[in-house]
Amino acid sequence: MIITVDGPAAAGKGTLSQNLAKKYGLAYFDTGMVYRAIGVMMLHSGRNLSDAVYAERLAGELTFAKMMALAEDKEFRSAKGGEAASIVSSYSGVRRKLLDMQRNFAFKPTFADGTPAKGVIYDGRDTGTVICPQATVKFFITAKPEVRAKRRFDEFAAKGQNTDFETVLKDVKARDERDATRKDAPMKPADDAYILDTSDMGIDEVFQKAVAIIEEKVR
Ligand code: DC
Repeated sequence: MIITVDGPAAAGKGTLSQNLAKKYGLAYFDTGMVYRAIGVMMLHSGRNLSDAVYAERLAGELTFAKMMALAEDKEFRSAKGGEAASIVSSYSGVRRKLLDMQRNFAFKPTFADGTPAKGVIYDGRDTGTVICPQATVKFFITAKPEVRAKRRFDEFAAKGQNTDFETVLKDVKARDERDATRKDAPMKPADDAYILDTSDMGIDEVFQKAVAIIEEKVR
């Protein structure tokens, strides 16, 4: 079984994906990680984030192992890392170079410890439209920008990262705009995706709704 969960930043994709992965025994691929890895490498290199040629070269050399090692970097999950990821993800060449790595995972999905899984759950912006259009069930998870900014703000605060709400809201809106208007694979729901607006829903309610849809679909 292959499930895709797309949608904008802080809509609840990660939480839903991980809960579904646990319930159905699926491997989990957070596809934002491939762009964060390139973003962090760009920051380390000291090159300008506008250097699309260099970003594309880094994308061509990215391996799963390298990505997992970079995930330990303090910038990987930071606002700066997210911003860098969003910028490099708008380069067509970067996206093209990262396609196979993401697609191939569905042919041989494995858990973090290397044991084989029965299927995969992809979390991202284009997994139902581009990475895996043949997925069994597709979701598009969204929420109002203010609600998503509040969730992100709370996450940063819990990690002790100092920021203010207005800055987070501005970043959320800027990333929405960039992700939705880039010329290659702009963020949008697949035609056959189930759209869930989580603005007024708790984590458990979203999970129960998604499970009901999956059960109906695979019956
Ligand atoms: O989900 P995230 O915040 O880790 O994603 C970081 C950036 O990567 C996001 O701004 C857009 C990009 N991204 C993408 O273009 N396509 C994906 N499938 C996943 C993420």
